[in-house]
Amino acid sequence: MSRESSVRPRSAHVVVLGNEKGGSGKSTVAMHIAIALMKAGQRVATIDLDSRQKSFTHYIENRRAWAKHAKLDLEIPTHYCIERAEGANVADNEAAEFNDFACAIDATEQSHDFIVIDTPGADTYMMRLAHSMSDTLITPLNDSFVDFDVLGTVDPATFEVVPLPETGG
Ligand SMILES: Nc1ncnc2c1ncn2[C@@H]1O[C@H](COP(=O)(O)OP(=O)(O)OP(=O)(O)O)[C@@H](O)[C@H]1O
Ligand SMILES: [Mg+2]
Repeated sequence: MSRESSVRPRSAHVVVLGNEKGGSGKSTVAMHIAIALMKAGQRVATIDLDSRQKSFTHYIENRRAWAKHAKLDLEIPTHYCIERAEGANVADNEAAEFNDFACAIDATEQSHDFIVIDTPGADTYMMRLAHSMSDTLITPLNDSFVDFDVLGTVDPATFEVVPLPETGG
């Protein structure tokens, strides 16, 4: 995968979990989708782009550990955790993250039916890249106007979704 060809046709269907609102259920839903797809007989790869929390990675490691402990033959996806580059140069960081992400995609896109990608609750380069590649984008939402307000604004009289106001600056 090159930066220019990131939207080329591929075999695996890419499912991305995204919502800038933290704690909305991205990692939990990602895990449930990955396991449900495998139980339906699909070949599933998983990618964790939230290398600070690693919730998705821990879910999968815990499942692997439990399967071993309980001597159960549980489905485990082919998993990658992409570390966030923390160098001083933004362009170098993005290039390193892109390369690691591309390696994971290249290693799985032809051999798996689905790639399930969990993203951090923050506006990051890799989060945007993953969104641009998604065939299916899932945005979990808590039943709260505070959470909905991150995604849109509702007219208090009509409940129509209205454009966000321009911010000064
Ligand atoms: N469908 C659900 N019903 C009830 N609780 C849920 C549901 N999905 C997730 N949770 C709980 O909500 C909390 C946050 O879930 P999770 O870590 O999956 O969110 P997240 O969007 O990945 O958070 P972050 O933005 O920090 O990565 C957890 O305690 C989780 O157990
Ligand atoms: Mg998460």
